[in-house]
Amino acid sequence: MAAGEMERIVLARHIAGLPTPADFRLERLPIPALEEGQLLIRNSFVSCDPGTRSRLSPGASYAPPLAPGAPVDGFCVGTVVESRNPRFAVGDRVTATGWSTHVISNGRGYVLKLPALAVPESLWIGLLGVPGMTAWFGLKRVAALAAGERVLITSAAGPVGATAGQLAKLWGASEVVGIAGGAEKCAWLRSIGFDHAVDYKAADFEAQFAAAAAPGFDVMFDNVGNAMIDRALLFMKLRGRIVMSGQVADYSTPEGAVPGIVNTREFIGKRLRMEGLLVFDDLPGFAAAQAEMAALIEAGTLQYREEIFEGLASLPEAFCGLFTGASFGRRLVKL
Ligand SMILES: NC(=O)c1ccc[n+]([C@@H]2O[C@H](COP(=O)([O-])OP(=O)(O)OC[C@H]3O[C@@H](n4cnc5c(N)ncnc54)[C@H](OP(=O)(O)O)[C@@H]3O)[C@@H](O)[C@H]2O)c1
Repeated sequence: MAAGEMERIVLARHIAGLPTPADFRLERLPIPALEEGQLLIRNSFVSCDPGTRSRLSPGASYAPPLAPGAPVDGFCVGTVVESRNPRFAVGDRVTATGWSTHVISNGRGYVLKLPALAVPESLWIGLLGVPGMTAWFGLKRVAALAAGERVLITSAAGPVGATAGQLAKLWGASEVVGIAGGAEKCAWLRSIGFDHAVDYKAADFEAQFAAAAAPGFDVMFDNVGNAMIDRALLFMKLRGRIVMSGQVADYSTPEGAVPGIVNTREFIGKRLRMEGLLVFDDLPGFAAAQAEMAALIEAGTLQYREEIFEGLASLPEAFCGLFTGASFGRRLVKL
């Protein structure tokens, strides 16, 4: 890439089913001159987020779909290298959005200066970014977790799930059960404090799950989608809460083929509640949560895994691995 140029990943075509690297295209283009109010960010890391998948097909999502040819958004962290915006100076370190080497921004939206905390830069789009905040506010605000409660977490070995499980234990959960794919992920979950880890790919999953589920769950933190929610409904306790964080199993399923939730009678007898979470509702609370979380990371109380790929061209492949179970921890691309 020559000086004055940038690279970005665009959507090559709308995706049907699981995403593949061929659904994306890398483009090289000149960096445009900044207009008044704009700033130029040079990214250090870009993230892979399952939620991005929900915008890559024309079907319904909570966010509008992208058109083929449009640049793909993901979270990134970097440094301001040029500024015509009085709120940002050259050298400021910021988070932003864009699957690109550079971001040209008007400074609005998710363009936030990094607080002065001594943590590795990648964490600002990991535990101290959207995944960590989703775990934090999903448990604290949406689930209103109380000490002594039993918690179920799906896609538990991912950055959201693993963080949620550890926070639940720190905040007094009596037991935390995680569901993940494969023996290695389950062993890691036990090593970071999950009381039970159940492999949903194992032949005896249903029996394993029923054993781990007894005597029921007060909170389900769901990252996977309808089939797991439907199964867990049968094991929820009186006044249980289900947090709908994400639907990684359903994002690639065509509209109309997404499994339904049928065990709805459980809601009445058990007075259950189910609530969706959009973490940006909690933006005003991020700084305080990030400071507490950074202290936990520094003290070694909160564990995390990262998988770091090199170069923007590796981003589509890294992203596609989120949907096959290949990913194990926060997937980032270093630029
Ligand atoms: N609501 C919000 O504001 C918000 C914000 C951020 C993230 N989220 C959501 O939180 C969830 C977790 O995000 P994350 O970043 O931590 O990603 P993640 O859980 O690491 O997602 C990738 C993992 O999902 C699992 N997976 C993939 N396909 C699956 C399937 N068909 N069935 C079951 N599991 C499957 C795989 O792990 P296994 O090997 O264990 O299957 C894979 O490694 C996502 O659904 C995401 O969209 C929500």
